[in-house]
Amino acid sequence: MIRIAILGLGNVGTSVLNIIRNNKDIIYQKIGENFEIVGALVRDKSKHLKKEVYLASSFEEILSLKPDIIVELIGSVHPALEYIIKSLENNIPVVTANKEVLAKYPNEIFALADKKRVPIYFEAAVGGGIPIVRPLKVCLAANRIKEIMGILNGTTNYILTKLDEGFEFESALKQAQEKGYAEANPESDLSGMDALYKIAILSSVSFGILIDINELSSEGISNISLKDVLYARDLGYKIKLIARSCVKDNKYDIRVYPMLLPFSHPLASVSNNMNSILVKGDFVGSVMFYGQGAGGNPTASAVASDIMDISWHIRNSHTHRLSGNIKSKAIILKPNE
Ligand code: NDP
Ligand code: HSE
Repeated sequence: MIRIAILGLGNVGTSVLNIIRNNKDIIYQKIGENFEIVGALVRDKSKHLKKEVYLASSFEEILSLKPDIIVELIGSVHPALEYIIKSLENNIPVVTANKEVLAKYPNEIFALADKKRVPIYFEAAVGGGIPIVRPLKVCLAANRIKEIMGILNGTTNYILTKLDEGFEFESALKQAQEKGYAEANPESDLSGMDALYKIAILSSVSFGILIDINELSSEGISNISLKDVLYARDLGYKIKLIARSCVKDNKYDIRVYPMLLPFSHPLASVSNNMNSILVKGDFVGSVMFYGQGAGGNPTASAVASDIMDISWHIRNSHTHRLSGNIKSKAIILKPNE
């Protein structure tokens, strides 16, 4: 029996409860373990009384429940960072979907995980349900990655799709929020920062470098209106929020910006909450990933797979270094270079 504690029961946390309960049989069949949700931490217990899970009153109480794995689904930096750090310090493996905290505090988190030899898994932090972190870290690891280019934010892609269908910006954002795609503060989506955190994480994993998020720039979609999208369409283009990372002479160009893509471009037809990522490696050539990049259920799929992967390692009595050997810091190209 693997004891799991969940921090946060919002869109993703609730779906994680559901996938663990609904797919109990298939999970057991694949890893030979059952999961017990020993407790969850939320802000307002009264909203979660029907979820049939023990609601703890503090993170200390979560620790006292002796979980084998802590799943962080609170979001943003504080107190998520402190809870991740305390979990690792207590030798408890962590699964998180929190791209912001990983992109802003990679040193603090991964150095501690390496020092303690405790795994931290984060497949859900990029691309929602799309397997992308593990493929880059494991399946494409032997390649020199030349370029990563993709649509990495479901909320803005949903808004751009709805503008194309004739909805106004505010109405499209409201729909994305109702569907559970947007961050608690949607400014993170609209400004391009959410996509920037994700492309920073993918770059770090792919290139084996440390990235200082403060050196990167993003431009979001706040200034794009229904008129712009319709005008672009008349000219044969789609406006898409693109996250791109490439390496030139050992320098890294990593940024997020709205781009006009001709209808024929493989990313032009990616619509609604879908995300897609094109990866170019020196031996593998081009690889394309596609799927739901936001939403409780697809994200829970990735979170649960991380929990299963860690459980497998717990069962087989060894951890493995998930942060790899990332030691050197990237030199980032400025926008005019
Ligand atoms: P929500 O805002 O829906 O849920 C956040 C949960 O965290 C709530 O249950 C909230 O409690 C709880 N919480 C917030 N602050 C605290 C605190 N200080 N102490 C204890 N609990 C707290 O977020 P999501 O589920 O949408 O997202 C969770 C994480 O997953 C974020 O990092 C997000 O970026 C990431 N993610 C989200 C995706 C999505 O599509 N939504 C996709 C991929 C990643 P209460 O309910 O009581 O308010
Ligand atoms: N707010 C994020 C998005 C959630 O819209 O892509 C998935 O990370």
